[in-house]
Amino acid sequence: MNLEEAKAKLEEFDQAHVLNYYDELSESEKEELLSQIKETDLSVLKKLDELKTPKKRGRFSPLKTVQLSDIENRKKEFYDIGSDAIKNGKTCALLLAGGMGTRLGSDDPKGMYNIGETKDVFIFQRIVENLLDVVNETGTWIRLFVMTSEKNHEKTVDFFEKKNYFGYKKDKVLFFKQSMAPACDREGKVYLEKKNRISTSPNGNAGWYSSMIRAGYDKIMKDEGIEWINIFAVDNVLQRICDPCFIGATIDADVSVGAKVVKKAAPDEKVGVICLEDGKPSIVEYYEVSQEMMDEKDENGEPAYNFGVILNYLFRVKDLDAVTDDKMPLHVVEKKIPFLNENGETVRPETENGYKFEQLVLDMIHELGTCLPYEVIREKEFAPIKNKTGVDSVESAKELCKKNGIEL
Ligand code: UTP
Repeated sequence: MNLEEAKAKLEEFDQAHVLNYYDELSESEKEELLSQIKETDLSVLKKLDELKTPKKRGRFSPLKTVQLSDIENRKKEFYDIGSDAIKNGKTCALLLAGGMGTRLGSDDPKGMYNIGETKDVFIFQRIVENLLDVVNETGTWIRLFVMTSEKNHEKTVDFFEKKNYFGYKKDKVLFFKQSMAPACDREGKVYLEKKNRISTSPNGNAGWYSSMIRAGYDKIMKDEGIEWINIFAVDNVLQRICDPCFIGATIDADVSVGAKVVKKAAPDEKVGVICLEDGKPSIVEYYEVSQEMMDEKDENGEPAYNFGVILNYLFRVKDLDAVTDDKMPLHVVEKKIPFLNENGETVRPETENGYKFEQLVLDMIHELGTCLPYEVIREKEFAPIKNKTGVDSVESAKELCKKNGIEL
């Protein structure tokens, strides 16, 4: 893209300020900026007002969860189905590690965070160790995909290399970068990160499927006969990955996606609750759960909306073409976005100063139409690290690890 074309594109989207420093740039910096302007989808900025308006939700109704007692009764059956699928190479794991982890506040990828006390225990290491349990149990190396973003890709790959893949088989691990979206101020003007760079952020945790296709890894899945993908968040250091019983129950239910869920700790706990919306599986945010929904009971007298998702899903590959990113809604999220001020200095704001655009996994669940919520024991499988202290923090996750006999 040449300068004239860049100007035209920026003007079309009201973003002419992106070239404010153009004349000060070196030739290579100019080229970098022009190429970023070419690649960046600025059309989202025009939709800011529309996207900020909360969508009207449909009619909610409860969705049946396979609960611990159901699982216990059919454990052997589920286990055998799942472990066969693993042994036949039909399942893979996909680590979502493209997020910025701003709440944790470390400049490194979140997975490099060390939660060890007497020795090193990195978040990535915990994840790989959890997966290795299943590898050892089934005698099968499971393909592991790792999604990064351009902000943390090199550091993530280098870290895995340096740590010898934490004992995982190197040629079973494949990394790919997720796509980025522009970040803007409250008026919809993109921020500049540097004089020659528009501020961007990863395009949300639903970016994984389209980004995987862009990397050509859909072909690898096809060649290897992979039928199921277990996607999971980087920050839950206790989660079971490619858990044979979960895989077995999802295959047995013949659904497009299985979702690991935990019983809510309190009716108003801040977790996304799984249910039906206009007859299709959906996740309703804690602030959208009405008092009436909180009070509703199921046939056993238990709360009817009682299970929260933990970002651990098993997707059936053949159904995924329905959820490529052009088919998914966009969400606007308020964030703290570092930016260049009028003097050309970088400012790191203390409070939210703008928006980024994301596509969310929870919309994939809704679009796919069939989902099996599968209960797991919170204390054994849910130790998310979002913050440094307090709820869902390094502190709380460490406590849970120790309770589960993990040496730190
Ligand atoms: P979070 O919603 O906790 O976001 O991600 P985050 O960016 O990691 O953290 P904060 O909000 O800035 O503190 C949940 C999971 O989804 C992944 C994260 O890496 C994490 O595993 N994720 C999130 C992506 O892979 N890409 C994204 O664009 C966003």
